[in-house]
Amino acid sequence: MTDAAGTLVYFYRDCVFRVSDGVQPPKAGSLFFCRHLDVRAGERMLEIGAGLGFAAVLAARAGARVVATDVVPGAVEAMRANAALNGVTLDARLGDCYAPVRDERFDLVCSNPPQMPTPPDRERHDATAAADNGGPDGWRVLDRVIAGAPAHLVPGGRLVFTIFAFLGCKTALAKLDAAGLTPRIVASEVQTFPRIGYERLEHLRATDAEATLPSGLPDRVERFVVEGRLG
Ligand SMILES: C[S@@+](CC[C@H](N)C(=O)[O-])C[C@H]1O[C@@H](n2cnc3c(N)ncnc32)[C@H](O)[C@@H]1O
Repeated sequence: MTDAAGTLVYFYRDCVFRVSDGVQPPKAGSLFFCRHLDVRAGERMLEIGAGLGFAAVLAARAGARVVATDVVPGAVEAMRANAALNGVTLDARLGDCYAPVRDERFDLVCSNPPQMPTPPDRERHDATAAADNGGPDGWRVLDRVIAGAPAHLVPGGRLVFTIFAFLGCKTALAKLDAAGLTPRIVASEVQTFPRIGYERLEHLRATDAEATLPSGLPDRVERFVVEGRLG
């Protein structure tokens, strides 16, 4: 498991993940997301934007039947490799949002999506941008994840995702309600303010509709795991 450029490896509990080039290593948000993914053995789970397969592998090890997707081909290869490294099987698929699962339904649809509000002149089209950038207000991928959830959940199924406080907790609950999902906050956690957030702080302030950011330089940010339940 070595090559000329070296290999980044991430250990978590009794699992090991290879972090390949261009695919984000698990971050505070990934760990928070996984800790609050209440997935049961036998459930069918879809993770949109699975990256190197951290949550997807842990869910498969807990006995879930997992479909994991990403728009970045290297991420799909990484999640397949990480599933094999950890002795589980994942159905890893390449594609945008729900495109890889057209008519399929799941007990749990989940995502720790790219959600950093991004000024239009900072948009890029590379794997790092795909992992971070959430469009002008941070909701670009999430809005589509929410809109498509009712058609991809079984009755009683759950959509679960993370948001930074500056995307707006009330906004998240209202969006779920408008999509016909019963919303609730599953968990909150205060994390270190993300480095990329400092780089675009003025833009974050301009899009912070629920006025969550302090006037000085923030050093912490609250993060939420949010659920919408169908029926
Ligand atoms: C913040 S990273 C999270 C990765 C991983 N789930 C985790 O928690 O560590 C977001 C992931 O979503 C993927 N992504 C971005 N836009 C997407 C889209 N439209 N459809 C599917 N995946 C997408 C990115 O390539 C990236 O792997």
